[in-house]
Amino acid sequence: MSTVHLPSDLQDALTERLQATAPSRASAQVERLIENYRGTTPTAAPILRDAADAAAYAAYRMPATYAAVRSALGAFREQAGEWTPVTHLDLGGGTGAATWAVADAWPGGAHRSTVLDWSPAALALGRDLARDAEEEAVRRAEWTRAPLGGAPALPVTDLVTVSYVLGELTAADRASLIDAAVAATRGALVVAEPGTPEGYRRVIEARDRLIAAGLTVLAPCPHDGACPVTGTDWCHFAARVPRTSLHRQVKGGTLPYEDEKFSYVAAARAAAVPGAPAAARVVRHPQIRKGQVLLDLCTRDDGLNRTTVTKRHGAAYRAARDTAWGDAFEAGDTPGGGEAPELP
Ligand SMILES: C[S@@+](CC[C@H](N)C(=O)[O-])C[C@H]1O[C@@H](n2cnc3c(N)ncnc32)[C@H](O)[C@@H]1O
Repeated sequence: MSTVHLPSDLQDALTERLQATAPSRASAQVERLIENYRGTTPTAAPILRDAADAAAYAAYRMPATYAAVRSALGAFREQAGEWTPVTHLDLGGGTGAATWAVADAWPGGAHRSTVLDWSPAALALGRDLARDAEEEAVRRAEWTRAPLGGAPALPVTDLVTVSYVLGELTAADRASLIDAAVAATRGALVVAEPGTPEGYRRVIEARDRLIAAGLTVLAPCPHDGACPVTGTDWCHFAARVPRTSLHRQVKGGTLPYEDEKFSYVAAARAAAVPGAPAAARVVRHPQIRKGQVLLDLCTRDDGLNRTTVTKRHGAAYRAARDTAWGDAFEAGDTPGGGEAPELP
């Protein structure tokens, strides 16, 4: 699992804007948000109704959703080579977590982000947080009120992010939003959801639509075939987010970090993004034993399997020791350069 540090300017902006209001006002709001986000019922009106709701969301959830999207983008970038978006659409972008993550993944301010959301309060806080950002792409992001139900008409763009949004939509709206996003994207699309069985199912639903529309999955999956995770299991990953003092105040708890579990899919148009998926991905915490590492892999050619890499395997063993849940694991990393070692 990777640790994702919030950009210091985002951390400062959150502290500066929310320190005074979040602890006392936000706790009641946070309770309501937790209730809402636990529910699976889509709402007919924004959950983030006013400035206090938006503040509570930003203090309580934004660091974690930022970490999830940043991790997904990191995995995508590893497979997508030098491809860089020029335009980015952040659907249901709220206070802008994915917009900050995209700017961090492709630093240097070359792209333009547009955040679409139906909550004026979330957009207003997002705009405010972005005002003094170091990344020009965050500072000059456009924040536009837009309902995304039905079949929204979206501008053509290079990259679309749909972060923690699908759970707030009906099944019909989820399908039409993904289809609209596919139609809008020239390059790539990244969907992230909570790492719960329901979140995973929504990601798989979206993945099926992306593949049916001709996109290629670049991460986390090593192939475009049916997901081998079945039954009561679900594919998810985790990002560790160091907690700030504001975060601790709002969320309670004493741990200096939180682990955000998330599911995601990142897919691209092969003609625009010259990438390829990894041969395999680590789908559980590697188990390190004396002289051996047990890796649970999702593989391109062999579905889910457990690979045991021992000290005898030299370079492959060192690579396995350095690998983490969520990392790509290339064929060359396995002992024998692609031959999965025999199970003990
Ligand atoms: C859980 S928040 C996620 C915000 C942000 N993407 C993130 O990752 O932190 C869900 C966002 O989707 C927006 N949303 C939900 N349903 C919507 C709809 N029908 N039209 C537009 N925005 C919607 C909400 O206003 C909210 O900002």
